[in-house]
Amino acid sequence: MNAAVYTAYGSPEVLQVKKITKPNPKDNEVLVKIRATAVTSGDCRLRKADPFAVRFVFGLFKPGKPVLGGVLSGEIEAVGKNVQKFKAGDQVFGSSYPHFGAYAEYICMPETGKLAIKPENISHEEAAALPFGGMTALYFLRKANIQPGQKVLIYGASGAVGTAAVQIAKYFGAEVTGVCSTANMEMVQSLGADKVIDYTKTDFSKEGGQYDVVFETVNKAPFSSCVAALRENGTLILGSAVLSGMLRGLWTSMTSSKKVISGVVTETVEAVDFLQKMAKEGKLKAAIDKKFTLEQIAGAHEYVDKGHKKGNVVVCL
Ligand SMILES: NC(=O)c1ccc[n+]([C@@H]2O[C@H](COP(=O)([O-])OP(=O)(O)OC[C@H]3O[C@@H](n4cnc5c(N)ncnc54)[C@H](OP(=O)(O)O)[C@@H]3O)[C@@H](O)[C@H]2O)c1
Repeated sequence: MNAAVYTAYGSPEVLQVKKITKPNPKDNEVLVKIRATAVTSGDCRLRKADPFAVRFVFGLFKPGKPVLGGVLSGEIEAVGKNVQKFKAGDQVFGSSYPHFGAYAEYICMPETGKLAIKPENISHEEAAALPFGGMTALYFLRKANIQPGQKVLIYGASGAVGTAAVQIAKYFGAEVTGVCSTANMEMVQSLGADKVIDYTKTDFSKEGGQYDVVFETVNKAPFSSCVAALRENGTLILGSAVLSGMLRGLWTSMTSSKKVISGVVTETVEAVDFLQKMAKEGKLKAAIDKKFTLEQIAGAHEYVDKGHKKGNVVVCL
């Protein structure tokens, strides 16, 4: 089968489409024929080994997992003899993180993996665009204990995490303000944001503390502005924090009524089921910027590396 393989960390050109052996499902596994995957900001970080600590988890000198791709949508082609949850022919979507392997025509996953039946009202391309941003946004908004009626600000509302966060915060009944650039204001509004602030023209913190939750998804807003925009007892989510942000967050949590949350997302089967339900109800829509083929994977990475994609970049197989 064809797969995009990388054997060294580096620029997008390290990704090469090659023939590799098609996997065989074990007794507890399903074999998925992948129809679509996505190039996520997480994939790009892993390809570049950025931050360096990535190497301690995924291979010190070279990538331990030569096929990237942490999200997928496709059709179950075969199942192992002990599998009960799925059958051949099922259309599924989900996440293969942290095992990756979705930049390929086929993948084997345990039936207990983060897979759910793809809603009929969305395409494979749309389904592949949901898990990365969706599970990240869901994890952090739940961790912040989001409540109906709260005022929530999503900074970086036009990215994969941001577009999902706007919709999930609305789903939880919050009043949502999205922050993005001029070109993305219409998209963020169309996803349900009650108010949109253009970061190229307006400083979101200038009106003082008014938000119950500020979700900084892209690590671009000044820490002090995020804290200043919070009400007393408000929560700041640093979805993409580096060490300095985490330390400042710890200090703020210890010395004020405001709480700062950061860390690594825990993905669960329940979270994929939640996204499936939202998508089925038409409450979670995939924001897709560009589509590429597997052969164009290096170009897709080059585009995502620029840091300005609108929602998601999908790879069609
Ligand atoms: N903690 C975890 O476990 C976890 C899990 C998943 C993801 N993450 C992290 O979350 C971050 C966001 O991921 P993502 O996939 O959503 O990123 P993304 O889709 O690549 O973000 C791109 C978006 O960021 C916006 N942006 C760029 N500069 C901005 C600025 N100065 N102010 C406001 N918006 C700006 C861009 O809009 P414009 O073009 O308008 O600037 C663009 O729409 C990544 O760093 C990723 O590593 C962390």
